Amino acid sequence: MDNLITIDGPGGSGKGTIAKLLAAKLGWNILDSGALYRLIALISENIKNTDPDKIGLELKDRKIIFELVDDQYHLFFNGKDVSDHIRSEEIGTKASDLAHNQQIRNLIKTTQRSFYDPNIGLIADGRDMGSVVFPTAGIKIYLDATIEERAKRRQIQLKEKGLKVNMPNLISSLEERDLKDKNRKVSPLLIPEGAKVIDSTNLSTDEVVNIVMDLT
Ligand code: DC
Repeated sequence: MDNLITIDGPGGSGKGTIAKLLAAKLGWNILDSGALYRLIALISENIKNTDPDKIGLELKDRKIIFELVDDQYHLFFNGKDVSDHIRSEEIGTKASDLAHNQQIRNLIKTTQRSFYDPNIGLIADGRDMGSVVFPTAGIKIYLDATIEERAKRRQIQLKEKGLKVNMPNLISSLEERDLKDKNRKVSPLLIPEGAKVIDSTNLSTDEVVNIVMDLT
């Protein structure tokens, strides 16, 4: 899988931004796996049920597409743009809770793998892309940054979306999510074997992209 780059790391480390820039440079597709967990959290809220079987039924035969809209990747679920609905911190926390469930993870593993088209190439970002979903990826990245820097970046993203932000709450929500994502039994967030670790705290997005491009 030479034309497959995985980018794992904690929330706010810049995975989405770097994935988007790399996809544009290389002309490859993108998989924002966190958005899929957020979609599951949204569905679970809508049907007021966390049963993986019930959620699975809602996902069956539905189209999931990432498309560029005004230079941002939007998630379309069965033709409906759900991007704004899935981006709140509440949905992020719920996604992190549901992501503990092996049945939920299995539910979307096949969907995640279907995003890889060997004729095009893929940048996949998330928590277990290099370790579980695409262990044979040609290039694996683990992107990190300090909690303060990640909260600052998340604050900018949320403000741009017109969402209210309270910094201390944002930091504790990110910390809580890190703890859950790193300590869960199934597919925890970890540095995948063979991954290049990049601390992006003091790096510009271009600098991070150049480090990855040098590996291609
Ligand atoms: O990257 P994000 O903040 O959009 O992800 C939301 C949650 O989804 C994250 O806290 C944990 C879960 N997740 C996961 O368990 N595995 C992935 N590959 C991606 C996200």
